[in-house]
Amino acid sequence: MTNTKIAVIGGSGIYDIDGLEGAEWVTVETPWGPPSDKLLTGTLAGVGMVFLPRHGRGHVHTPTSVPYRANIDALKRLGCTDVISVSACGSFREEMAPGDFVIVDQFIDRTTSREKSFFGTGCVAHVSVAHPTCPRLGDACETAARDAGISVHRGGTYLAMEGPQFSTLAESKMYRTSWGADVIGMTNMPEAKLAREAELCYASVAMITDYDSWHPDHGEVDVTQIIKTLMGNANMGRALVSRLPGLLGSDRAPCPHGCDRALEYAILTQPE
Ligand code: ADE
Repeated sequence: MTNTKIAVIGGSGIYDIDGLEGAEWVTVETPWGPPSDKLLTGTLAGVGMVFLPRHGRGHVHTPTSVPYRANIDALKRLGCTDVISVSACGSFREEMAPGDFVIVDQFIDRTTSREKSFFGTGCVAHVSVAHPTCPRLGDACETAARDAGISVHRGGTYLAMEGPQFSTLAESKMYRTSWGADVIGMTNMPEAKLAREAELCYASVAMITDYDSWHPDHGEVDVTQIIKTLMGNANMGRALVSRLPGLLGSDRAPCPHGCDRALEYAILTQPE
């Protein structure tokens, strides 16, 4: 049995954790360079917590320049067991409205310009990401959201685009109709893949800010609209996070879905 340590990677709108005890911003060095920022550590209801602002305080990293490998490595070094990704997204579904949250369970990775693996020449590994999120952690996020009175959708396919521009109308229509995506954002990939390689449980809480550009009754997406919805949602995101320690508890049994053993049959290179 290990101790639970919950990492929260916050996107726009969430910049710390309410009620964190012994809060301290720490610098972590990694072989992949510096993470997005210092990491905020502490405890909440007796459970270790770490918060990392994905874009850095002051929002200095673009979705492409976020140091995803350093971020996941830093969380691993601090002993995190579970990673909750909180981010903004656009919706491709009428019923998934701005202000709602989605506990994402699948991804389509359309990013092109990011380092996506800790492995490479010298050590070759292929982990499975058929089920890229942890259902146990998803359950906790869903319960926390419902308890906090959030309008939440369990399950959804997140299309990760490179950005920084938003999608064209043709892309938006294609992702929603032909590709079956439910939401779109710019940051959950390769974050989810790297978390799996690092044998961390990962859940994604996507906060809907807009209908992208497909919806005939809504104009095209812009940043002002996103920020406005995000600011309205930030308190709900924080309320969700504050309920997680009570739901996950401090004693952590092995993940029933095997996230924490993902490398067991993944490494091809012979040990020296
Ligand atoms: N983040 C928030 N809304 C988005 C959208 N429509 N497309 C990509 N990323 C987003």
